[in-house]
Amino acid sequence: MTYQGSSESEIVVGLDLGTTKVTAVVGEVDAEGITILGVGNVPCRGLRKGVVSNIEYTVRSIREAIDAAQTMAGVEITTVYAGVAGSHIRSHTSDGVCAISGREVTRMDLERVLEGARAIPVDADRMILHALPREYIVDNQDGIRDPIGMSGVRLQVRVNLVTAATSPVQNVIRSIERCGLQVADVVLEPLASAEAILSEDEKEIGVAVVDIGGGTTDLMIYADGGICHTSVVPAGGNNISSDVAAGLRTPMAEAERLKRQYGCALGRMIADDEEVEVPGVGGHAPRRAARRLLSDIIEPRVDEIFSEVRRRVEETGMLEQISSGCVLTGGAALMEGMIECAEEVLGMPVRLGSPVGVRGIVQLVQGPQYATGVGLVRYGAQQILDQQLRQGAAAVARPIVEVEPTREVHRGRGFFGWLRDAF
Ligand SMILES: Nc1ncnc2c1ncn2[C@@H]1O[C@H](COP(=O)(O)OP(=O)(O)OP(=O)(O)O)[C@@H](O)[C@H]1O
Ligand SMILES: [Mg+2]
Repeated sequence: MTYQGSSESEIVVGLDLGTTKVTAVVGEVDAEGITILGVGNVPCRGLRKGVVSNIEYTVRSIREAIDAAQTMAGVEITTVYAGVAGSHIRSHTSDGVCAISGREVTRMDLERVLEGARAIPVDADRMILHALPREYIVDNQDGIRDPIGMSGVRLQVRVNLVTAATSPVQNVIRSIERCGLQVADVVLEPLASAEAILSEDEKEIGVAVVDIGGGTTDLMIYADGGICHTSVVPAGGNNISSDVAAGLRTPMAEAERLKRQYGCALGRMIADDEEVEVPGVGGHAPRRAARRLLSDIIEPRVDEIFSEVRRRVEETGMLEQISSGCVLTGGAALMEGMIECAEEVLGMPVRLGSPVGVRGIVQLVQGPQYATGVGLVRYGAQQILDQQLRQGAAAVARPIVEVEPTREVHRGRGFFGWLRDAF
């Protein structure tokens, strides 16, 4: 496998185990970037709030999603990058130190110092998922993003250490392995989503990613050039649907449909005379209700979710550093009025984040609900690239995968563009 201008490529598969659906995204990674070859997307009832609650259902959905994706892509899938989420995820700051004795910092030193940051005791039932560098410090100079080539005697790294409860992660791995697949890595879902939707500029000047899925709302904050916070709010689109079902006394499936079709997160965006037909439960006849009533049910829940996000952002003390505002993603972000409501509650500019920077059958991964699946492919591509660099293809460390220039927000050299420049 090589990206050095040859025609060789690598297949990378992202597997998003969401609370409402399992999505497998097959990407082909080469010197030109990522080409989406196939997508399998099937409903899943095996997870609750981002955590596997029924292995049988989950295994079945994974099989179906993988079958569909490999049929479409025309490749055999053997290994996947899997997403994990759930309110068992925690993050905190940790430091690592290593001696460099006056010579230049190398890639190996970065690995050693990151290893040091990971070497802290965690509870017996927890495991470290990621050590995400926030800044490097060479001797007394702090705020360094890429210390390779700098010289000094002491290299320090400050990381955001993401930990997870071991058993939910094992259940994800077990479910996937029961389908005869290998797990290349488990990846925090909001980290994957962020990879798919953010531009380098946004990461640079500070941004909050809010992924509102079916079961959870995942928050990730980039500030000062690194990830400084990640957490999971245990509420999402399913709670909105349940509220609608209870509030309008209609079956869950109808509540879900009404929410998607007519739901609005801000009541004042709806005209007073708009009406919707609400099917009854248990043989009761359908009745007409004001659409305003539907949004009166939805608004408090959405408000509650964004208020909790705001509280967590404030708690980190990073509100001022999030200069580019918030990027909203996940299926529930599609509802009318979500962006406006988020702007009001969070008090910052908000945009909708859909996957960008990939080619191929992009119409199949358009929409915020595919951010995690595509992000997992990007994450996998980056891992392969890192491995290649480690193996000595280049001794120069580079920034994490860039988002290809698309539309007005995204600028930069493009995915793997630097690699072409480097050779
Ligand atoms: N057009 C729409 N309007 C409102 N809500 C929508 C719309 N489309 C999807 N949703 C909601 O988005 C949610 C699913 O989003 P998504 O696919 O991102 O979740 P997931 O990844 O399965 O779950 P999670 O990330 O919480 O584990 C559901 O609650 C669904 O009702
Ligand atoms: Mg999700």
